[in-house]
Amino acid sequence: MTARKWMIYGCNGYTGRLVVEQARRLGLTPVLAGRRQEAVRSLADEAGLPWRAFPVDDAAAADAALADIDVLLVVAGPFSATSAPLLDTCLRTGTAYLDLNGDVEVIGATFARRDEVAAAGGVAIPAVGFDVVPSDCLAALVCERLPGAERLDIAWGGDFQPSRGTARSMVEAFPRGGLARRDGRLVSIPVAARVREIPFPTGDRHAVTVPWGDLVTSAFSVGVPDVTTYAAMPRSAIGGMRAAGRLRRLFGVRPVARVLDAIVAKTVTGPSAELIGTGRAWFWAQAARGDEYVTGTFGGPEGYLLTARAAVAAVQRVLAGTVRRTGVLTVSEAFGAEFAATIEGCAVRVHAGESALWPTVPEPASPAPA
Ligand SMILES: NC(=O)c1ccc[n+]([C@@H]2O[C@H](COP(=O)([O-])OP(=O)(O)OC[C@H]3O[C@@H](n4cnc5c(N)ncnc54)[C@H](OP(=O)(O)O)[C@@H]3O)[C@@H](O)[C@H]2O)c1
Repeated sequence: MTARKWMIYGCNGYTGRLVVEQARRLGLTPVLAGRRQEAVRSLADEAGLPWRAFPVDDAAAADAALADIDVLLVVAGPFSATSAPLLDTCLRTGTAYLDLNGDVEVIGATFARRDEVAAAGGVAIPAVGFDVVPSDCLAALVCERLPGAERLDIAWGGDFQPSRGTARSMVEAFPRGGLARRDGRLVSIPVAARVREIPFPTGDRHAVTVPWGDLVTSAFSVGVPDVTTYAAMPRSAIGGMRAAGRLRRLFGVRPVARVLDAIVAKTVTGPSAELIGTGRAWFWAQAARGDEYVTGTFGGPEGYLLTARAAVAAVQRVLAGTVRRTGVLTVSEAFGAEFAATIEGCAVRVHAGESALWPTVPEPASPAPA
């Protein structure tokens, strides 16, 4: 049998390099790819791996590059530019599509193609990084223990310094404001609308609402009508975040967005090697039904290292043919809720009956449809 081939597109970015390193550590031999030949080739030569260069919007070149590829992992972002054309290519070439997308709107656009991808017999698994592997698996585990859950709160904490690509994606998404799932629908809420204390395993921390991929994926993984996603943040930063939120539309005005993007490109370099080696990522999730609660926690390595490990583990599962069915799938649908706990350095704990601390700041009334 010929060995199944996989490709990392966007290999030369900050996260791409970590994914390449993880693949090499496991003795895997992906084809390295990206849009700039010189950057891709020099990395591939250094790693002793095959390479291909093509732009995402040249369908003929992309089709040729993916013709013999079984699994594509897309690490090139912002995903607003890369996700749709590469998924189109994958459907034409019969390649399974995985990405590290963390942009709620773009994840939603991928899930909107669920019927189309299933009808084509394709497989697409978006968001196989730290957004949303731990939280999607945790959500599935706590909801499994509490059938008919009505509410789900998910929080992320830990050591965080964004990479350039993440910062660019955050700047791009900021003008859209906050999001939550209410009565089964994705709705707009103000930036940092809710604040609550989250009992992370390392101690209680303040957390504010932020859009997280689970606002889309939970609809398929667990189907809970009310979902709120949070990130831990110092109390002192919350006022500034809300003030910026009131001006959020300004951030979307083209010249302002361009200046911000240039500032990010110049100043953001990503987490240091030291933080990658010593940092930790924590997730907490709580399902509620009436006054019954089931809570789960996840602990793992620093977010970008976790992303590299999760993404390569996801690719390995797809290559091994263990994905449960075709279509656009969440991580827990594709690999099972226990997947996150199988990733190197990660642990999950689920326990029933913990009392919940509900928000101290009420959400403003009448959220508009997103
Ligand atoms: N959800 C998660 O868990 C998670 C975790 C980590 C990263 N990410 C996401 O992954 C993406 C990459 O992050 P990063 O840290 O690697 O950023 P980065 O260091 O800025 O690298 C970006 C990579 O994407 C490529 N790229 C950007 N726009 C492209 C386009 N239109 N067509 C083709 N290639 C394009 C770049 O190619 P050039 O070098 O040629 O510009 C580069 O290879 C970001 O969107 C980030 O949010 C998500």
